[in-house]
Amino acid sequence: MGYINVNSDKCTKCNTCIASCPVACISSDSASKLPVVKTEKEALCVYCGHCESICPEGALVHSLSQQALQSAKEQSKLVNAADLALYFKQRRSIRNFKKEVVDKQLLEQAFDVVRFAPTGHNRQKNQWIVVYNTKVVEAIAAATIDWMRGVVKANPEIGTRYGFPGLVIAFDRGRNLISRNAPHLIICYTPASHPVGPKDAVIATTQMDLYLPSLGVGTCWAGFIYMALQQSDELKKIVGLDENSAVHAALLTGYPKYNYHKIPHRKAADVRWI
Ligand SMILES: Cc1cc2nc3c(=O)[nH]c(=O)nc-3n(C[C@H](O)[C@H](O)[C@H](O)COP(=O)(O)O)c2cc1C
Repeated sequence: MGYINVNSDKCTKCNTCIASCPVACISSDSASKLPVVKTEKEALCVYCGHCESICPEGALVHSLSQQALQSAKEQSKLVNAADLALYFKQRRSIRNFKKEVVDKQLLEQAFDVVRFAPTGHNRQKNQWIVVYNTKVVEAIAAATIDWMRGVVKANPEIGTRYGFPGLVIAFDRGRNLISRNAPHLIICYTPASHPVGPKDAVIATTQMDLYLPSLGVGTCWAGFIYMALQQSDELKKIVGLDENSAVHAALLTGYPKYNYHKIPHRKAADVRWI
């Protein structure tokens, strides 16, 4: 079998598969009019599986089909748009967590979802570290503070611009504004050489940030830890990464201690129609 296998009895030659291909590697065979991937176009395929997913007749099988999942419903019928809008608007950064550890199965469930997030050229290069051990999260917060102390010493202007002196003082007084006593930290990284790594990782982490609350798990983007992970060798050592990897996002994770009862005000969307 080539890249695609088309059942000529089922195929109606509607060309939807051709229209859906992001890299235009499918064409209509001049004689049979059935969709084909010509040999010279095979290398273009990004294995996104859209051709098989979109075929209304189930006539096309991509060579990856053993992994293809059946989708049950049209997107617009799968979730109620009003509920989804409310769900998005209700997402909050959680800064107070219960001490209790999160059920690992819930996190695994979330990873199984976010692997479907879009990635440039469908490269799927995102990698994750779950810092499940709370003691290690605390060590990461302490190492982030050490890194901040170094920045303030070496470059007080930059340190002050980011508010590091206040964060260090708070930490020394027992107030952890870095990891906010979250039991876990989820880090997303890619190979450093991957050109769209930052975007792929932030998209998938955003999906994680949105999906986890549906399982009762709260999150907060850990911007300071992310910053420190870019520069601190001590931190890179703790999480086991070297210069071949680039960290793009980090999420504090745990069961929320409090519930939010109102949706806070936000600016109107700044949109220009042309
Ligand atoms: C890239 C990024 C980094 C962030 N870093 C932190 C952080 O280090 N600590 C923190 O408490 N909140 C952090 N946040 C959360 C923002 O402060 C929060 O999204 C914003 O105040 C709006 O609140 P909401 O998420 O509940 O709507 C970060 C958010 C983003 C997008």
